Amino acid sequence: MVKQQLHSESYLASHPVSAGWNDRARAALAGGVGHDLRHAKPLPLYIQRGVGGRKWDVDGNEYIDFLLGNGALLLGHAPPEVIAAVCAAADLGTHFGSDHPLHIEWAERVQQMVPSAERVRFVNSGTEATLLAIRLARAFTSRTRILRFEGHFHGWHDGVVHGFQPPFHADGSLGVPAQVHDQHLAIPDGDLDQVAAVLSRETDIAAAIVEPSGASWGRVPLDPAFLRGLREITSRHGVPLIFDEVVTGFRFSPGGAQQLYEVVPDLTCLAKVLAGGMPGGAVVGRSDIMSLFDITGDAHHDRYQRVLHLGTFNAAPLSAAAGIAVLKQVAGGGPVERANAMADRLRNQWNRILDQLGIAGYAYGPCSTFHVYFETDPIRLRNASTRDDLYTTDAARLKSMPPELVVEYQRQLRQHGVDVMSFTGGVVSAAHTEADIDQACEAFKQTMLALCDQQLVVTM
Ligand SMILES: Cc1ncc(COP(=O)(O)O)c(C=O)c1O
Repeated sequence: MVKQQLHSESYLASHPVSAGWNDRARAALAGGVGHDLRHAKPLPLYIQRGVGGRKWDVDGNEYIDFLLGNGALLLGHAPPEVIAAVCAAADLGTHFGSDHPLHIEWAERVQQMVPSAERVRFVNSGTEATLLAIRLARAFTSRTRILRFEGHFHGWHDGVVHGFQPPFHADGSLGVPAQVHDQHLAIPDGDLDQVAAVLSRETDIAAAIVEPSGASWGRVPLDPAFLRGLREITSRHGVPLIFDEVVTGFRFSPGGAQQLYEVVPDLTCLAKVLAGGMPGGAVVGRSDIMSLFDITGDAHHDRYQRVLHLGTFNAAPLSAAAGIAVLKQVAGGGPVERANAMADRLRNQWNRILDQLGIAGYAYGPCSTFHVYFETDPIRLRNASTRDDLYTTDAARLKSMPPELVVEYQRQLRQHGVDVMSFTGGVVSAAHTEADIDQACEAFKQTMLALCDQQLVVTM
């Protein structure tokens, strides 16, 4: 406790300008921050600028950035082609409320890259994408309930806010009616027999939605064989399958997880990399389902037999310009390969450090993501003889590391010049260099030593 206090004091000493902004933020912003995950002890970060794989806060402290705009910046901060495209678009006007050529070009690129994208409809975020995909699936099937998987995150709207954080069957947030909670059915992922049993028993399932990486962009690993089985079972029961590729889209491969794992869903939710660091999202999918957006001119059809979708900023020009600029580069495959290679280097080196220090934990993660699991349960530790014995795919376990450990891990990493995305994990960009990764490894080592010193992690 005393040590943590001393660490906090040294953090505050190197962040005096941030502390001033924090005072102002607490007086002006509800909750003190703009996103629940931006909360941090002793202070949130207040960032001034970013270039490539690095960013700088208002105190001039430099960070190797593995948050990268919540996973949006596959090319890193401020790639010159993207900035040029956004500036050129802004010169012509920021927003028309009408369709425009960049919108169509953006859709065509998505169609070319994402296997399931027979048609494209843009929205403003990943949350809007899952909201709309679920509405489409319900309209298409005339059914109500959604099958989802424990731990998987699909944004913050009422329909999906339950079920992603443990305990998975508890309410996700105040303010969501119980009837909404009842409209979804959450089961553990990985168990195809259970999926088959649910779909045989329940006749009111409108869709199954899944993060193809496994919950929280792979924090809970998922065998791609599960996706293949899920595809087969949902097809057999006529249940539309929705891939939430908000993180994995254009990151796991140019065509997302569906291209990498060769499983084509009926509908896909996209955001983040899609819009090149600007706000944006999309629902893409089968043209027969997407035809529910069609306006025919028949008054009865148009009022009662279609899916309503409005939105002032859908496919806004600056988002379209940034999206096109990023997708042009991603289509060639180079950025995905580079980011994957850097993440691989990071995971390997972090595991070597954990090994050297004998810490009960391991780094893992698919493609250009990484996560770290620390085992702290005394019984499991006693039963494990090597680090491999700690490996788990149990969502509750992977998502229930002690909060004080996670807070201190993040703070120590920041103090040593590294910022992660959420909990213990982050995403790597194509702009990160080997030198960035090696520096991040030294920061990780120092962080591990501090956590050992504070007895927040355990050696085995
Ligand atoms: C898998 C997944 N789906 C949906 C969302 C929600 O996206 P947004 O934050 O753009 O609303 C997120 C956000 O991180 C996500 O990771």
